[in-house]
Amino acid sequence: MKVVAIVGSIRKESYNLKIAKNIQARYADKFDLEILDLTPLPMYNQDIEMDPPEAVINFKAKVKEADAILWITPEYNATIPGVLGNAIDWLSRVDKVMNGKPSIIMGSSMGMLGSVKAQMHLRDILFAIGLNSPVLPGNEVYIGAVHEKIDALGQLTDEATIAFLDGVIANFLEWMKKF
Ligand code: FNR
Repeated sequence: MKVVAIVGSIRKESYNLKIAKNIQARYADKFDLEILDLTPLPMYNQDIEMDPPEAVINFKAKVKEADAILWITPEYNATIPGVLGNAIDWLSRVDKVMNGKPSIIMGSSMGMLGSVKAQMHLRDILFAIGLNSPVLPGNEVYIGAVHEKIDALGQLTDEATIAFLDGVIANFLEWMKKF
């Protein structure tokens, strides 16, 4: 199974990116996770959506080929970061490559609430845009105080979080059999 990770932060030391990398390594025998780079994506512009730049074509192709999308996001100003909204804008138009694609949502923040508002909004958005992109029910992953759970090498060290992720990924793999 091929899954693409769409991370709502483009900073190099992003904790959410580090979570994605930990998932990629820990469950490598269960699915192939490719972490997509949102950095080269231009701002969505309807004027160029029919003939978009190479970066958009490549990004959409990766999502189209995937069996599922793993969204991992921080919270910016009580909602999803602009880079994530921008990525969804590109994905939701023209050939609508997210159509029918199953999703799983996770996120982290340095605060205690683990990007809960961003994730709630993302669930809402994926439902509301009508692309028939089902989100794994339940299994909400709010990783708070993330800076205390990842070491200097980027390794997720918090045992409770690791055990919780093991359960969520097992549920995700079981749920994916339906598609
Ligand atoms: C934040 N941060 C933040 N955190 C939170 O829990 N709720 C919020 O509304 C916000 N708002 C916010 C706005 C902006 C512009 C920034 C830059 C940051 C903190 C944020 O969650 C924290 O910086 C994360 O570590 C960012 O995720 P990455 O880049 O580490 O993945």
